[in-house]
Amino acid sequence: MTAPARELRARRSCHAVPGSNPRFLEKAQGLASDQVFLDLEDSVAPVAKPGARKNIVEVLNTGDWAGRVRTVRVNDWTTRWTYQDVVEVVEGAGANLDCIMLPKVQSADHVKALDLLLTQIETTMGYDVGRIGIEAQIENALGLVNVDAIATASGRVETLIFGPADFMASINMKSLVVGEQPPGYDVGDAYHYILMRLLMAARAHDLQVIDGPYLQIKDLDGFRRVAGRSAALGFDGKWTLHPSQIEVANEVYSPRQEDYDHAENILDAYEYFTSEKGGATGAVMLGEEMIDEASRKMALVVSGKGRAAGMTRRSLWSPPS
Ligand code: GLV
Ligand code: MG
Repeated sequence: MTAPARELRARRSCHAVPGSNPRFLEKAQGLASDQVFLDLEDSVAPVAKPGARKNIVEVLNTGDWAGRVRTVRVNDWTTRWTYQDVVEVVEGAGANLDCIMLPKVQSADHVKALDLLLTQIETTMGYDVGRIGIEAQIENALGLVNVDAIATASGRVETLIFGPADFMASINMKSLVVGEQPPGYDVGDAYHYILMRLLMAARAHDLQVIDGPYLQIKDLDGFRRVAGRSAALGFDGKWTLHPSQIEVANEVYSPRQEDYDHAENILDAYEYFTSEKGGATGAVMLGEEMIDEASRKMALVVSGKGRAAGMTRRSLWSPPS
């Protein structure tokens, strides 16, 4: 199947909502997160999964999600629930759903199996084939080792997501505090390799890359610190588990206003100076700064993130008169 080019969606804050909790499902509609993901996996007890599927279908079809990215996290393929999660949710609410999040992805086959199932349901239901995207959670060593094959297993893949809690358990990391450094590791960041590996795979294959949860929900400074690290590397967003984390994530993963303005100015100035009218030169001066094609590429990244976040420009460059 050749999938259409995927739309770039804002995902600075990806808010987790347990599918078994109607009150949270209702409340999530009024929050300022870029994305909601309605969960059928680890935040839902096994006996509550059938009821959670029904709640999710209902709330996707009748709720007001106001332009937010709507994702449902299903159970992983090693359980007995995945196929029923996908069939019930996509048949019931596929027209009001943007992506399926697949947890604990360990190989390209996991993604391919979901892609095939989605294609059958879309065809049967008369939906656009290939419209529903896949978000792949990488949560153990095997998933990380296979991440390039996972990233390219289907044209539906939109994001790679770090699952720190399961990852820490799977590699026997000596800590129970998700997102914080394990005691005894006193040099650098114990998660650096994992974050960088995911970032490289995502950028190599034009995907977004999302940091996972921070479980100390009352510690907003801790959330900001951990989010700030992945944002500094280039991550696109992070999960939020509590409404108070959303505002911080939206701020941390947006460009700073001055960087956004500067990026837009670089793009305008570069376009002008490389045109016939502006003298058709390659390396040009913007104020005191020399800019060239590489500056344009960096500016495109910052302006793309700012535009996706709905930022407004506060300073305007104009050509010399
Ligand atoms: C999320 O699913 C995690 O395991 O951290
Ligand atoms: Mg997990």
